Amino acid sequence: MNIRRARIEDLPGMQACNLRNLPENYSMKYYLYHCATWPSISYVAEDKGRIVGYILAKMEEETAETEQPHGHVTSISVLRSYRRLGIAKKLMLLSQESMASRRASHVALHVRKSNRAALSLYRDTLGFEVHDIEQKYYADGEDAYAMRLTLK
Ligand code: ACO
Repeated sequence: MNIRRARIEDLPGMQACNLRNLPENYSMKYYLYHCATWPSISYVAEDKGRIVGYILAKMEEETAETEQPHGHVTSISVLRSYRRLGIAKKLMLLSQESMASRRASHVALHVRKSNRAALSLYRDTLGFEVHDIEQKYYADGEDAYAMRLTLK
């Protein structure tokens, strides 16, 4: 198992992994936008040349109201047969470290209220807190927890 920064040639494998694991899917252009704009904050887990997990992340730049940029996790997933091996935790920690080196004050993400595995990863393992509840955030009407973790 090799966990490393995502490269442009990994994008089809990341997209394939996403399509197997989540109903929230993205165009290749959107993957490319992430990796070309912020090449150091998206990571993959590769096993025998296959992408078995990924984190796709971006930075939100500082605005008039916010003094610092922050990181945002667009999507993370791990193929079913590779779960509970600590892969998602490692992907999150690497991305968080990289966001912190870009002066990010915090990392933000959205997660379905019903997604117990991901909620446990974010809240219990990584220390994220619920910042807000966004009603009907998802296309099927499910609410999202908007979660945040302050970065040191
Ligand atoms: N049930 C309860 N807790 C869990 C579960 C689970 N099924 N999976 C992970 N956790 C928690 C545990 O605390 C675990 O630590 P432990 O194994 O020592 O008990 C901790 O998270 C770390 O688990 P990892 O092994 O690092 O997680 P994994 O590599 O299995 O990936 C993930 C977790 C990404 C949520 C995976 O289940 C998955 O791909 N699910 C489908 C896609 C998904 O829901 N992605 C997140 C959507 S939200 C977003 O993308 C911003």
